[in-house]
Amino acid sequence: MQADLLIENARQVVTSRGGANPLIKDDLGRIEIIENGAVAVGGGRILAVGTTAEVRAKVTVTPATRRMDAAGQIALPGLVDAHTHLVFAGSRENELDLKLKGVPYLEILAQGGGILSTVRATRAADREELVGIGRKYARQMLAQGTTTAEVKSGYGLTVADELKQLEAVRDLASQSALDLVPTFMGAHAFPPEYKNDPEKFVDLLVTEMIPAVARQGLAEYCDVFCEKGVFSVEQSRRILQAGLAAGLKPKIHAEEIECLGGAELASELGAASADHLLMISDAGIRKMADAGVVAVLLPATTFYLREDHYAPARKMIEAGVPVALASDFNPGSCPNNNLQFVMTVACLYLRMTPAEVINAVTINAAHAVGRADRVGSLEEGKQADIVLFDAPSYQYLPYRLGSNLVTTVIKQGKVVVEN
Ligand code: NIG
Ligand code: FE
Repeated sequence: MQADLLIENARQVVTSRGGANPLIKDDLGRIEIIENGAVAVGGGRILAVGTTAEVRAKVTVTPATRRMDAAGQIALPGLVDAHTHLVFAGSRENELDLKLKGVPYLEILAQGGGILSTVRATRAADREELVGIGRKYARQMLAQGTTTAEVKSGYGLTVADELKQLEAVRDLASQSALDLVPTFMGAHAFPPEYKNDPEKFVDLLVTEMIPAVARQGLAEYCDVFCEKGVFSVEQSRRILQAGLAAGLKPKIHAEEIECLGGAELASELGAASADHLLMISDAGIRKMADAGVVAVLLPATTFYLREDHYAPARKMIEAGVPVALASDFNPGSCPNNNLQFVMTVACLYLRMTPAEVINAVTINAAHAVGRADRVGSLEEGKQADIVLFDAPSYQYLPYRLGSNLVTTVIKQGKVVVEN
């Protein structure tokens, strides 16, 4: 086996090796650490992982092999951000003052701001503009170690604007090293035109938007903001079932501000994930564990919304719910797209251990977006998505609050970031 690239002498190689299923319970906190580790890459895939001596013995190194000395650094699988809204126009820093005056997130939305102000900006932008803005964020994310990201629509809320947003995601994916997983989220808010007849908007989602998105192959998942004052459990069921019928796998924003039973709905429908879950009930936790629905926790959002109650991560982990972490990057409730920061908040406020948070942003996150067969761990045969961090140990990542420790990002065997 001839190596195109050989990363050697890493202080630690963290493999995040899992299995066919996401890591649960105590397994979430187990990580394989290879001291003085190496990773060999060929043809965009991982050829070997092990100690530097083992890997050198396994692969053929030629003058054409690029050798990378990772002394003093650690190597991880490329991080997977399983929940983002990364393609949008405009920004909402104006809401910071309102927030500090105590105006709640849903109140800003009810007044026509919040998500709806981003909807206005996104409707006004054409596809190329959205791609340009998205490219900037995608570059930031890659530079911070994210190599795969799920992206939701939901700032268009008309047939044409939702399609435009998803087409922008498709175009961005073809131009960026960041792998994108597209999700249709037309059920993100009720647009002002349907304020007085919300059921009509649900009809539009079910009879026009979902079929059009599916016909054009623009999304893999369908998501709904199931929340008080937004989409009810009944409306969410109808939308997600229509998505399923069209071949879009369900995801759901559930139990973020109030507990409505979105976790139970996710379990009933066999959703790929239920996300947020701050207010999840014990019954919801049991159902998700039984159904194997991944909980995608977004603690940087809780932090930014200044909520005092975080998702009960420890309870979920003990109950056997597979837990992943993501940024929720969006212009309103979480303008952060650095998963290293999310890891810190998860340690401090979800009381997850450094080992657990690393598995939660790699292999379990890959499971949440249906990519665990390709990415999320450093294993022979997988896509060579590898990140080097300037860190002496894996615990150092969540420890260095707010820092970007990435030195090098390798995507499908190619060096795409070098700091
Ligand atoms: O996941 N909760 C709904 N959607 C996003 C926020 C989107 C926005 O505020 O623009 C979220 O937090
Ligand atoms: Fe979200």
